Amino acid sequence: MLSLSISRTALRSAAAPRQFAVAATSARYASTKTLTEAVSEIVPAKREQFAKLKSEYADCSLGDSKVSHLIGGMRGLKCMLWEGSVLDAEEGITFHGKSIPECQASLPSAADIGRPGKEMLPESMLWLLLTGKVPSAEEVKGLSQDLSSRGKLPNYIEKIIDSFPKTLHPMTQFSAAVSALNHDSKFAAAYNAGVKKTEYWHTTLEDSLDLIAKLPAIAARIYYNVFGKGDGKQTINPDMDLIENMSHMMGYGKSEGLVDYLRLYIAVHGDHEGGNVSAHTAHLVGSALSDPYLSYAAALNGLAGPLHGLANQEVLNWALEFEKAVGSNPSDQQIVDYLWSTLKSGRVVPGYGHAVLRKPDPRFTALSHFTDSRPELQESPIVQLVQRLSKIAPSVLKEHGKTKNPYPNVDAASGCVLYTYGLDEFKFYTVIFGVSRALGALPQLVFDRILGLPIERPKSLSMDALMASLKK
Ligand SMILES: CC(C)(COP(=O)(O)OP(=O)(O)OC[C@H]1O[C@@H](n2cnc3c(N)ncnc32)[C@H](O)[C@@H]1OP(=O)(O)O)[C@@H](O)C(=O)NCCC(=O)NCCS
Repeated sequence: MLSLSISRTALRSAAAPRQFAVAATSARYASTKTLTEAVSEIVPAKREQFAKLKSEYADCSLGDSKVSHLIGGMRGLKCMLWEGSVLDAEEGITFHGKSIPECQASLPSAADIGRPGKEMLPESMLWLLLTGKVPSAEEVKGLSQDLSSRGKLPNYIEKIIDSFPKTLHPMTQFSAAVSALNHDSKFAAAYNAGVKKTEYWHTTLEDSLDLIAKLPAIAARIYYNVFGKGDGKQTINPDMDLIENMSHMMGYGKSEGLVDYLRLYIAVHGDHEGGNVSAHTAHLVGSALSDPYLSYAAALNGLAGPLHGLANQEVLNWALEFEKAVGSNPSDQQIVDYLWSTLKSGRVVPGYGHAVLRKPDPRFTALSHFTDSRPELQESPIVQLVQRLSKIAPSVLKEHGKTKNPYPNVDAASGCVLYTYGLDEFKFYTVIFGVSRALGALPQLVFDRILGLPIERPKSLSMDALMASLKK
């Protein structure tokens, strides 16, 4: 077995096929690593740990599954390996053990790579999710430049997006365009050429980086076609980071506040362990050795559901309806009455509750701190209303007594900031979420290939079979 101390040169020549070694050096500083080299370094340790789990712990009980797992959406059932992040009901999400504030303190920001802005970069989060390590500013800059060099859309994808009717939901356009990119999948080509199983992760990583790099341009082209904003050209400036480029393509490049907010939003939405619908879908479809494009397109279709990624547009709609009815400065009692009227009409209060979390969502807290730091947001009536709702809603939801978590989730805060900065097309909000979720779902596909995880095939039972087995 390879040890962790093996030299980088040896690793490159022994493990990486030639064409990837060449690609990996395209954006490199003399004293730093490329992401591919950093991932190469962790492969032996990951495999060793997995082999130990298999050989020494396979028979350990995690508690038997129950009927409630079969009929209750498998809630709480520990049956999935996910490397990038773990969600604790009380503490919230940690990325390789780092909380959001710890990530904000340690991950390189826009300013660290010489760009305007203070927030941590999604590129830094991607590096952390893939390697478990905090990258240096130079490494992040190299990765950012690498992504820029991969970001241009092929002409056939532009034509496919341009052929969609404007009335087709942006998320449907997004997933269709991502699916079609599998035309160029390096993983599919390598698989067809008979590449060894242990090498699958290289091309999975290559496809993942290509896809993450292209998501902003796909999103911007859809935004231009449907809402007419941006210049429709998707020009990529190699000096800019991923989100700065996306913001420019969408026509918001000069809005320094929005660019920085998008960096934070996309970094904190990147991963939320594996069981959520989008992440789980990417992993499930990928387990059939479908390439990263097909796997992530499937994830986007799950993200488009109203109980998952679409909730952020629902929150804003609901708050704006309230503002329209009572004005922008309602009394506390009017807020309480509005919450009760929503609950009594049998609807959920959007932006509150969570399937796992039992405390306020730290992603909500991070976005709220951003809001507190910007005078232009503090002055926004809709931001003020959403903040007041977040202070009053938990006590109403507690009194209502149904939801296990009466606190705000990330969707309670995210939309009102986009809206205040002029990005007011609600239907597009889930596309931005979709640009982000790739940061977590695609690295897990790389881990799946590093570890050679098998095709997912849980056992299902009919109700008759279940009843019969219970009677035995
Ligand atoms: C996120 C969500 C889907 C989690 O669902 P869950 O795991 O079933 O949540 P719970 O176990 O707490 O649900 C228990 C009950 O409380 C209700 N409940 C949960 N959140 C609620 C909310 N925000 N408002 C009113 N009722 C709520 C559920 O509908 C359920 O009612 P039921 O017994 O009549 O079916 C749910 O909280 C919700 O619908 N929230 C609003 C939508 C939202 O913000 N989604 C984004 C999540 S990041």
